[in-house]
Amino acid sequence: MQIIHSVQAMQATASMLREQSASIGCIPTMGALHDGHASLITASSQENTATVVSIFVNPTQFGPHEDYQRYPRTFDADVALAERHGATHVFAPSADDMYPKGFETTINVGRLSTILEGERRPGHFDGVATVVAKLFQAMLPHRAYFGQKDFQQTLVIKRMVADLNIPVQVKIQPTVREASGLAMSSRNRYLSAEERTIAASIYQALEAGKAIVERGSRVRTEIEQAMHGQLADFDVDYAVAATAEALSTPEQFSPDEQIVLLIAARLGTTRLIDNTTI
Ligand code: PAF
Repeated sequence: MQIIHSVQAMQATASMLREQSASIGCIPTMGALHDGHASLITASSQENTATVVSIFVNPTQFGPHEDYQRYPRTFDADVALAERHGATHVFAPSADDMYPKGFETTINVGRLSTILEGERRPGHFDGVATVVAKLFQAMLPHRAYFGQKDFQQTLVIKRMVADLNIPVQVKIQPTVREASGLAMSSRNRYLSAEERTIAASIYQALEAGKAIVERGSRVRTEIEQAMHGQLADFDVDYAVAATAEALSTPEQFSPDEQIVLLIAARLGTTRLIDNTTI
């Protein structure tokens, strides 16, 4: 497996792979890789001849009081995990290479980036969209793999790819969970053993909301109340039911509409997000 540190070298390698007719799958990550990332790498390596995992803790998607400095950085373990699951390349650029002096451009994906996560984390999705576009320009992938755990992020990226005619197929893989139901996340490393047990209630809250829908109700407040009932131990940013396509929040969902339940909640100093589609 090859490790590449500069944008220029990554572009040259990707161009060469394309000339050899290789199909390139990419998995953009911020490192601290876990089984969720492993499932993306495995999916890519089954569908492509080359699989590039990018590892870059992107400063522009963190707010001024967020965890950029303390975000876990586990490069050697990440490289080993990527290789074990079939990656052919790791792309790990520096912040200076990604954002050289004079850098000015930002991609804004409109309404989708201003609601829910975007409302609580202003500028977050501008940072995500811009870096993902830049990573695509470096890795020149045919397919890009993202986890459903960051549901709103997947919608933002799909919107950007469609709106800007980016020739990349975006593939969303199911959330990987621990036995307790807790969604795998790099930020789970911040949790104490006790908090980790409590954190599984987020999954129970999603299941409680889902049960209301499965019992026949499509009234948004009923679904949301069921979720809030399981979240007493958390400082809840939001626990909402929305349309899976556009994240709109009607009073009542129509029978044929796919619903997504989304939660963001704090436990101590750790902010966790999760979702499920119905
Ligand atoms: O999901 C992540 O890890 C990040 O938001 C991403 C897509 C790698 C962009 O920095």
